[in-house]
Amino acid sequence: MKILVIGTGYVGLVTGACLAYTGNKVICLDVDNKKINDLNNGKIPIFEPGLSKIVRESISNNCLFFSTNYSDSIKDSDIIFIAVGTPMKDSGESDLKYINSVSKSIGLYIDSYKLVVVKSTVPVGTTFKVQKIIKDEILKRNSKINFDIANNPEFLKEGKAVNDFMSPDRIVVGLNNQKNKKTFKELFKPFSINHDKLIFMDILSSELTKYAANAMLATKISFMNEMANISEKLGADINKVRLGIGSDNRIGFSFIYPSVGYGGSCFPKDVNSIINFSNKKGYTPKILEAVNDVNENQKKYFFDKLFERFKSKKNDLKNKKFGIWGLSFKPGTDDMRESASIYFVEKIINLGGSISVYDPRAIDNAKNKYFNHLSGITYCQSKLDVLKGSDALILLTEWPEFRSPDFEKLGSILKNKIIFDGRNQFDKEYLKKIGFEYHQIGVRQI
Ligand SMILES: NC(=O)c1ccc[n+]([C@@H]2O[C@H](COP(=O)([O-])OP(=O)(O)OC[C@H]3O[C@@H](n4cnc5c(N)ncnc54)[C@H](O)[C@@H]3O)[C@@H](O)[C@H]2O)c1
Repeated sequence: MKILVIGTGYVGLVTGACLAYTGNKVICLDVDNKKINDLNNGKIPIFEPGLSKIVRESISNNCLFFSTNYSDSIKDSDIIFIAVGTPMKDSGESDLKYINSVSKSIGLYIDSYKLVVVKSTVPVGTTFKVQKIIKDEILKRNSKINFDIANNPEFLKEGKAVNDFMSPDRIVVGLNNQKNKKTFKELFKPFSINHDKLIFMDILSSELTKYAANAMLATKISFMNEMANISEKLGADINKVRLGIGSDNRIGFSFIYPSVGYGGSCFPKDVNSIINFSNKKGYTPKILEAVNDVNENQKKYFFDKLFERFKSKKNDLKNKKFGIWGLSFKPGTDDMRESASIYFVEKIINLGGSISVYDPRAIDNAKNKYFNHLSGITYCQSKLDVLKGSDALILLTEWPEFRSPDFEKLGSILKNKIIFDGRNQFDKEYLKKIGFEYHQIGVRQI
C-alpha cells in the first residue's frame, strides 16, 4: 500500500518505519526541515532501540522516503496517517494547532480518494473535526473529492516502541463506516500473526480508549505513590507492601513502583486533557483530578526531603553540589518531556546549588533544549564523574546501568555517603551496613 505519515516524531517515525519494513511504500512528512534533511542523510533524530536498523533497511529497499512536500506526498499516497503532536496548553487542554494545520493542508492538496487516519492522541470528537476541516478546504476549491476518516490510537511505549508496534497487544481502529475494515485488516496483518489483534469500534469510543488506557496506568502509579506516602508516615516499608499486593494477579506488578511520579509526553498531558474535556461536558472526574494532584505533589514531596536535609540557615542550597543519575522521563529513551529531572534541576539551581548530571541518552536534549537557560550544570560522560565533590547522589531514572553500582567506589568518590533514590532501586539494609544515609520513597530514612 502507498502510505503517508504526517509528523515524524516518536510515533510517526516508528509507524512509518514499521509499515515500510513490512513492505509498504511509505513517505514520512514533517515541517521540520532539519529533521527531514537528517533522515535523508541517514541520521535518526531520536533514540529508540531497533529503530535505526529498520529505517536503514527500509530506505535501501526503496520502501521508506522522507519529505517536506505536502502536495507531492499526498498525491503519492492512498492512506494518510496523522501523527503530529497534541501538546498540553497551560489550561490542561490539548493544543490542536498541529492537527488543525495538517487537516487544512490535506484539504488543500487532496487530489483523489484517500483514507485519512488520525493516530495522534486527540480529545474525543476531534477526528470528526479533522473531517470537517478537510471537507471545508475541498469545498473552498469548488472540488468534489471523496475521502474517509478513521481513528487508530497508538499504544507504543517509548524505549520499546519498535517492538510494541511490531507485536502489539491490540490494534484499536475507530470507523464510521464498515467499508475500510478490509484495508485495516490487510495493513495490520503482519502485526497480527498469531491471533487477530484488531478491535474495531466507533470513532468516539476509539478516541476515548486511548485516554482510558493512559488514565488507568497513571491511576495505578498515583495510587501507589499515595500508599507510599501513607507507608512512610506509619513507619511501614512500601517496597514490602508492593510485593504483597503485586503478587495478587488481579493487581499485578506493573505500574505499582513507588517513585517521584510519572512524566513523559503522554500521561501528564492525557490525564489533564481528559479532565479538561470532561469538565467541558459538565462532568468532574474526581479520581483523575486526584491522580494528577498526587503526581504533581510527588516530585515536590521528594525534593522537600532533600531540601530539608541540605538547606542553609538562609533557606537556600548555596555551596551545595548534587550529582544526578538519569534525566529522561524513563529508561530506554532520550525523551525528557515532563521528566522529574527538570523539576529537580531547576529547583536546585534556583536555590543557589550546583549540579553534575549524567544520562546514557538524554544529555544532548538536556544541554540543548531543557537546561540551556540554566548555569551551574556540569554534563558528565560517565556515572562516576557525577559523584566528584557531590554532597549527595540523586537517582531519578532507573536505567539498567544504575541498578547495581559499586557502592564502595561510590562512597569513596562522593563528598558524603548520601543517596536520594527516587526510584527505590537499592537495598536499604546493605546500604546501612556500609555506612550510607539512604533516602527513598515510602520508607523512613535510615
Ligand atoms: N510519544 C509517545 O510515546 C506516544 C505514544 C502514543 C501516542 N502518542 C501520541 O502521538 C502523537 C505524536 O506524539 P510524538 O511523541 O510522536 O510527537 P513528537 O513531538 O515527537 O513529533 C511530532 C512531529 O510532528 C511534526 N509536525 C508538527 N506540525 C506538523 C505539520 N503541520 N505537518 C507535518 N509535521 C508536523 C513535528 O515537527 C514533530 O516532528 C501525540 O498525540 C501523542 O500524544 C505518543
